[in-house]
Amino acid sequence: MKTILFNIKNLSGILDVNIEKLSGAAMAQMHRINDAWLWIEDGRIHSFGKMQDLDMQIIEHFDLQMNVEGQCIMPAYNDSHTHLVYAASRESEFVDRIKGLPYEEIAKKGGGILNSAKRLQETSEEELFELALERLQNAELLGTTNIEIKSGYGLTTETELKMLRVIRRLKASSRQTIKATFLAAHAYPMEYKQNHQGYIDLIINEMLPRVADEGLADYIDAFCEDGFFSAAETEQILEAGEKYGLKAKIHANQLHYSGGIQMGVKHKAVSVDHLECVGDDELNSLLNSNTIGTLLPTAAFFINLPYQPARKMIDAGLAIALASDCNPGTSPSYNMSFVCSLACTQLKMTPEEAFNACTINGAYAMELQNETGSITVGKYADLILTKKIPSLAYIPYSFTENCIDQVFIKGM
Ligand code: NIG
Ligand code: FE
Repeated sequence: MKTILFNIKNLSGILDVNIEKLSGAAMAQMHRINDAWLWIEDGRIHSFGKMQDLDMQIIEHFDLQMNVEGQCIMPAYNDSHTHLVYAASRESEFVDRIKGLPYEEIAKKGGGILNSAKRLQETSEEELFELALERLQNAELLGTTNIEIKSGYGLTTETELKMLRVIRRLKASSRQTIKATFLAAHAYPMEYKQNHQGYIDLIINEMLPRVADEGLADYIDAFCEDGFFSAAETEQILEAGEKYGLKAKIHANQLHYSGGIQMGVKHKAVSVDHLECVGDDELNSLLNSNTIGTLLPTAAFFINLPYQPARKMIDAGLAIALASDCNPGTSPSYNMSFVCSLACTQLKMTPEEAFNACTINGAYAMELQNETGSITVGKYADLILTKKIPSLAYIPYSFTENCIDQVFIKGM
């Protein structure tokens, strides 16, 4: 299948083939060609250039020719942190928080993650699959072509496996590339509140071997946080995962200086995520590593936390990714354009920095950077075709408007 898009207002996010992620000052650049054409062949980017250099006679040789005058093209979003498989929304906790009950208090009373786990245990695999598939399809319409999805609302062996099997079915049913993360270390079930080691042993000795045996996970995660999994407890989980070849992608430093960032770096995590609490030690630890920091501004927005110090991190030379954290408790949204809006208005990132964080750096946070995330010859044509908009900065600016006309996954 050969497709050509021509009269593209601007083609943005062009990168050389050897660039795996963008760090520091380089995040502010989004290379582009104004008045461009783009040739897609067999799902991949074949070539691109300026309209003035295109021989219009070749156009008739394409299976599909699209005149997209006034429209822009950029790489599609890579959402590298979600909890997309869940049984039910939690708007009653939302109302409790409005009335003044903090997130951590709700969790202590058996709400929060444990509430989601209870609902998930009562829901069939089929129903969970249908619910998650609908979210996935809606996320695609909003520009997300590759996504990571976590377990972690099961918290028993059978229900964690149920979640991961749902993710496996989503992988088989969707054209999006999906990465699965095993997150049994998301919260201690009530019966293990006084017996942390008992639950950790269950994860390590019973759940992990079965997850690995069925090949259900690409990564391992733990919610490294005071009141959840301490850095030492997280380390046990990460070491066990390593034995099965599972790299880490962990929740760290959302609510406290938990030591999670340093622990993730020590274990060569692909990413450490949330990062509301970042001091000099955390910054230096990331600077000396290949671990990418992933910021989740919609979670901070929704539960009223101070925002992540993106400026400090980028100005220090770090690469950062942005993701939606879609989940029923702290971020009931998978709208990556809104993530970009918050990154701009609250984290003081420029639109270019936000887009790079959601595209090439999001791909890096799922180890997909050699296949997608930029306009690069040979990569998958995972693209957003915008409506007729004045510029790409209009996307985060017009924060409730859907500026996306069409999304291409692997060229279609
Ligand atoms: O990423 N921080 C931990 N886990 C989720 C929220 C879980 C929940 O409240 O359901 C998060 O924010
Ligand atoms: Fe999360």
